[in-house]
Amino acid sequence: MTVDPKLNKLYTLRKQALLGGGKERIDTQHKKGKLTARERIDLLLDEGSFVELDMFVRHRCKDFGLDRESYPGDGVVTGYGTIDGRKMFVFSQDFTIFGGSLSESYAKKICKIMDLALKVGAPVIGINDSGGARIQEGVDSLGGYAEIFLRNTLCSGVIPQISIVAGPCAGGAVYSPAITDFIFMVKNTSYMFVTGPNVVKTVTHETVSFEDLGGAATHSSKSGVAHFACDDEIKAFDTVRQLLSYVPLNNIDDPPFLETTDPIDRVEEELNSLVPHNPNKPYDMKEIIRRIVDDGNFFEIQSGWAQNIVIGFARLGGFSVGIVANQPAVLAGVLDIDSSCKAGRFIRFCDCFSIPIITFVDVPGFLPGTSQEFGGIIKHGAKLLYAYCEATVPKITVITRKAYGGAYDVMSSKHIRGDINLAWPSAELAVMGPKGAVEIIFKKEIATAKDPEKALNEKLESFIKEFANPYKAAERGYLDDVIEPKFTRPNLIRALQILETKSEVNPRKKHGNIPL
Ligand code: HXC
Repeated sequence: MTVDPKLNKLYTLRKQALLGGGKERIDTQHKKGKLTARERIDLLLDEGSFVELDMFVRHRCKDFGLDRESYPGDGVVTGYGTIDGRKMFVFSQDFTIFGGSLSESYAKKICKIMDLALKVGAPVIGINDSGGARIQEGVDSLGGYAEIFLRNTLCSGVIPQISIVAGPCAGGAVYSPAITDFIFMVKNTSYMFVTGPNVVKTVTHETVSFEDLGGAATHSSKSGVAHFACDDEIKAFDTVRQLLSYVPLNNIDDPPFLETTDPIDRVEEELNSLVPHNPNKPYDMKEIIRRIVDDGNFFEIQSGWAQNIVIGFARLGGFSVGIVANQPAVLAGVLDIDSSCKAGRFIRFCDCFSIPIITFVDVPGFLPGTSQEFGGIIKHGAKLLYAYCEATVPKITVITRKAYGGAYDVMSSKHIRGDINLAWPSAELAVMGPKGAVEIIFKKEIATAKDPEKALNEKLESFIKEFANPYKAAERGYLDDVIEPKFTRPNLIRALQILETKSEVNPRKKHGNIPL
């Protein structure tokens, strides 16, 4: 039987496109421990769900001999499919074609799916593996990047945007992932930097490897640029799928609700004894979170950076929630520059996408010191405060122990529109810790006492008895209730249920001016 020549042409072109930059380059990609652009998409999306667009697009550059070299698809695979049956758009940079470098046509392919995603109301997932701007295309390539940056910005807060960095991502190209909501990096095969080790060496005389300068470990523990450092690509795709299970498809959709078999009224006895009596003793806030949420599943984000604050998603009675919690086990849970930025951005994500925020508070205040002040803790701390103040999603707060000073106000207090504010009997709401307070207000009395140490201890004892508790705040209605820790789960779920129909609108404006 003869094959229709028109169909034959289609088959041939498709076959050619599916081969990317050719078998040899695919083998090189595999030898580097990396998958190809299409293999990645197949692992990320539901099996067989991917629909490719623009497979036949080619570049139009005629300079530097490029008129003699072109590949269908031109270095990026784009299209749509599903994850857990939910619509997703995806682009995957193909390193086997011109090193995944970005041309004008390639940028147009990405912009096309971003525009579609915005119209449809579905997330965009970008898999990055590229040598940056296609050098032969010059300013056309730079313009292409800028068109993507613009769309990243316009999509921000409307549809979730996720970046997976699975190879090089350098120079200005980093700014597309940087604008997206979450960055996943793959250990040992990916890097991100504005200028690479050679330029660094020339300019600052520092010697640094690719991995140390911009690898997954660096960005997930030192810079906070990456939200996840994954052992391999498969783990990265799996983690992206998990993250998306908490997130709605767009800013008017509801976050996915997941029926749970974990009883809503589950009482967790151990919570009554988890906070140490000694206020200077640390404990692990993540242990508290795990005991409260559905099936103990806490999906932590940025677990290796600014560990004095914990952020992540969980479910409570089936509702998807964002959790922000001071971590007394690290730096006593103090707020500093990094922790403020980390939590501030997460709160804004939750607020964009209608995800209620649960805040667990045990905070001794802001971190003192010249490095913090010179680094701008004032403006960075203000980001966290601003994010909480601005958020109109349901906000529920549980104070487990310390809530001191300005940090009390910042951590989703009643005064900045906390909807339901609860405290455990171990809570202490005050301007500062008892010792500092007593030393200031009874300075003269203590100094002139016969036995200053005894006087200090007496004052301390009476101060603790009188003020280091939640009841002064509860008397004023700044706390809605003081609860037995073991009942925290049912209390939170009931609060979420009542707040499900919460509606609050901020004053009309073009946009606010968050301190940057
Ligand atoms: C065109 C490129 C390219 C680029 C790589 N290639 N980068 N082609 N433009 N930017 C091609 C190579 O010629 C080669 O083609 C193939 O891709 C694979 O590259 P290799 O160098 O063989 O791979 P590898 O050894 O793994 O090194 C990868 C690399 C290196 C580290 C990314 O290729 C590299 O340094 N590339 C240049 C990176 C760069 O300076 N980009 C511009 C940055 S500025 P063949 O035919 O041999 O397979 C930038 C600004 C963006 O991006 C601004 C946005 C606002």
